[in-house]
Amino acid sequence: MVLTELVSATDEYLHSTFASRYVRDPVPRFKMPERSMPKEAAYQMINDELMLDGNPRLNLASFVTTWMEPECDKLIMEAVNKNYVDVDEYPVTTELQNRCVSMIAYLFHAPVGENEMAVGVGTVGSSEAIMLAGLAFKRKWQQKRKAEGKPIDNPNIVTGANVQVCWEKFARYFEVELKEVKLREGYYIMDPEKAVEMVDENTICVAAILGSTLTREFEDVKLLNDLLTKKNEETGWGTPIHVDAASGGFIAPFLYPDLEWDFRLPWVKSINVSGHKYGLVYAGVGWIIWRTKEDLPDELVFRINYLGSDQPTFTLNFSKGSSTIIAQYYQFIRLGFEGYQNIISNCMGKARILREGIEKTGRFNIVSKEVGVPLVAFSLKDSSKHTVFEISESLIRFGWIIPAYTMPADAEHIAVLRAVIREDFSRGLAERLVTHIEQVLKEMDNLPSRVAAKLVQAATTAEDVCSENVTRLKKSVRETQEEVTRYWRRLVDRKKAGVC
Ligand SMILES: Cc1ncc(COP(=O)(O)O)c(C=O)c1O
Repeated sequence: MVLTELVSATDEYLHSTFASRYVRDPVPRFKMPERSMPKEAAYQMINDELMLDGNPRLNLASFVTTWMEPECDKLIMEAVNKNYVDVDEYPVTTELQNRCVSMIAYLFHAPVGENEMAVGVGTVGSSEAIMLAGLAFKRKWQQKRKAEGKPIDNPNIVTGANVQVCWEKFARYFEVELKEVKLREGYYIMDPEKAVEMVDENTICVAAILGSTLTREFEDVKLLNDLLTKKNEETGWGTPIHVDAASGGFIAPFLYPDLEWDFRLPWVKSINVSGHKYGLVYAGVGWIIWRTKEDLPDELVFRINYLGSDQPTFTLNFSKGSSTIIAQYYQFIRLGFEGYQNIISNCMGKARILREGIEKTGRFNIVSKEVGVPLVAFSLKDSSKHTVFEISESLIRFGWIIPAYTMPADAEHIAVLRAVIREDFSRGLAERLVTHIEQVLKEMDNLPSRVAAKLVQAATTAEDVCSENVTRLKKSVRETQEEVTRYWRRLVDRKKAGVC
């Protein structure tokens, strides 16, 4: 009797999680389990699966912040149960948001008068901010066209083909045509002259990027503004500019204060910036700032009062967390202008070290520019045997996540690797990354080339090649690829055994 009791008590409460039945049973995947489980077991199961995710600190694919100070982590955890939208219940959180909007508007030189409030709102990220900006432009354009008795069924936005996917989303979701200025080899940002040529009476705005996602470059917003000023004078269309400063908005004010890209330029009517990129806050915060309240049509702002007060809202979602807004305010007052300047300059320094290390291998062309967002984009000088995609794949085994991709139209034939430098990427890590790239190159040099695949492609398309030849070539490619796979298996197996 005593023994039975002891067994059941042990089973439920005394065994370590790993001695319990929960680690023997299949992980619930598709259907909610019938029975509950102890919190320790639930934690362990999820934690163990998550160990197979990449390490965020080594994820150089992303601009998004992966480290904050413990004091800020504490504030974040303390606010994790606050719904931001309950402004009456959490008036201080709302006040912190307004202070952030004001600080950013000031940083971007918005013409805010003595007793005026800056016009802007916190969002989940730059994508939501861009949706809101786009909607405001669309509505303003519709109002103007209606007043002139003109049709409103064909709005468009002019951008470079290098825009981030959120612009394509906006275009599709909100039925606006995206007119993209094509890129060309060696020039991977929007050409302002071509952009202004593409502007017509249905253009709701031209979107310029401060810190292109692909190569870190800043587009020339000043030139765009000057060209548009001329065109607007000639046509009377009044086409405005939106600046997508997702990453550059927290770089340019600190490193290039004299660069005119923001509300100092009269046709810039709204700017978005990601708080979770160089605003130095974890994922979940962006900002949209309008030049003046006239640039945000009043009819897009909803007023709700069921939570207590008359509350204006202009966001796509209703409920959302408060933590990242609070974290943004923490960073602003903790770091100040001086702190941001130091962190961003350090990032640039680390990007330089990485770039020099990569250049020294003699195998890459550096595609990114010196001025802009701290990242290094680089392409292989010779990809006749191996590609940047193979390098990206091989670096994963050291823990590095470094994406490889092809450029947008008309530079699709250029494939690059891109490493984003964030605050928490140390000089030591930069040096290690270079060593690992060198190692991968050495290993690849000993691998059979994958160039045979290209030969088959050429043979398939060549009109004078008979189908027998194609079959023979295909067979030889298959053999080559099998050989590559066999080689990699051997290499990986030896690594596992600690031989090399
Ligand atoms: C230029 C640009 N715009 C917009 C975005 C989307 O930003 P978010 O991830 O904050 O929605 C990105 C993301 O990398 C970006 O680089």
